[in-house]
Amino acid sequence: MNIIAIANQKGGCGKTTTAINLSGALAAKDKKVLLIDMDPQSHASFGFGVTNNPMDKSTYNVLTDNGEKKRKLEDCVFKVIQNLDIVPSNILLSTLEQELKDKEDAVSKLHQALAASKISYDYVIIDCPPSLGFLTFNALRAAEHVIVPIDMSAFSLMGVGKLLGMLELIKLKINHAPQVNGLATIFDKRTKYSQTMLEEIHGFFKDQMFRTVIRTNVALKKAASKGVSVIQFEKNSNGAKDYLELSEELLRAQGAIEFEKALASIPVTQDNENAILTVARERVIEPVEPDKREISFVINAPSAKDIYIVGDFNHWKIAEENKLSKLDESRWEKKMGLSPGRYKYKFVVDGEWTLDAQNKEREQNAFGTFDSVIKL
Ligand SMILES: Nc1ncnc2c1ncn2[C@@H]1O[C@H](COP(=O)(O)OP(=O)(O)OP(=O)(O)O)[C@@H](O)[C@H]1O
Ligand SMILES: [Mg+2]
Repeated sequence: MNIIAIANQKGGCGKTTTAINLSGALAAKDKKVLLIDMDPQSHASFGFGVTNNPMDKSTYNVLTDNGEKKRKLEDCVFKVIQNLDIVPSNILLSTLEQELKDKEDAVSKLHQALAASKISYDYVIIDCPPSLGFLTFNALRAAEHVIVPIDMSAFSLMGVGKLLGMLELIKLKINHAPQVNGLATIFDKRTKYSQTMLEEIHGFFKDQMFRTVIRTNVALKKAASKGVSVIQFEKNSNGAKDYLELSEELLRAQGAIEFEKALASIPVTQDNENAILTVARERVIEPVEPDKREISFVINAPSAKDIYIVGDFNHWKIAEENKLSKLDESRWEKKMGLSPGRYKYKFVVDGEWTLDAQNKEREQNAFGTFDSVIKL
């Protein structure tokens, strides 16, 4: 299950439009999708015409601790179209923060509900409210991936630093670091201003920016008012094309991650070369580049219990396949096959994100801290 939060505290930047239409596009590509409405304004629910659902089957009921009102996630799911379900929200959701204010695990409620549920979807998309409060924190805590829609208006980048700060806090406190990608929205190529803003946003997010740009398109507004996704409403509109392209870009990226995982699980010997090729064919992504070089990452940490290496090359994932092994009493090592390029990385030593002390090449990241950099 891929859990994706759509977050930006700036109002009206296209969060709900992205949540609805990315869900619709993934469903059209035969992926099973659950959209969770985490906004008490309920725009995503209205945008899919889910307006008459019972008040006691909503996101609030999934997250509350009130025994009488609490429900399992699967009991609050409504079918929208084939492959696409929704957990709708209502205004009660705005009372939840106050209700849970003394609970230590308040910010993990959505994470816990998803982990405890027996539901099975390819994608869970969470539409966040326009604030950096408790509801957004819950979504970021539950998500493996965060999409930050940024519209081409003045001040649109101003709040993004705060959102990244919140993610940094989550990383420090609970060692959870979802992948973050910016998405340019409401882009009007006729205006010079949009062009300038797009460059600025690219400069900020660099390689963590979706290549797809969502253009201004009136079909997106019309579809929402009819309670359907733009793919159902007008498949040939620019809005539908852009969100279908975004879904393809996402699927390609996910395919690459799964391919790496599958590949890492197979020990490379002559005998299983065929098995690796089969995995490559099944995943239908580019084969492993022949020009990969084996790089040995070494860190001196005599008292450490476990160490991982995370970076651009493995999508910053703390995972078994990225674990270092002990070289001797004090040193740990991980060998990786890397293609020529420039990569940012860090070691995670017993949960602490640590720079490579032997490598003086460093670069400030979007969170305001530094990453080690290697060029091949
Ligand atoms: N690409 C687009 N082209 C035209 N209109 C758009 C586009 N994206 C969003 N809109 C319109 O802009 C308005 C705000 O969009 P949306 O509701 O998706 O933003 P939001 O970030 O979810 O807002 P909020 O912060 O209030 O939740 C809506 O009227 C929507 O129809
Ligand atoms: Mg919204």
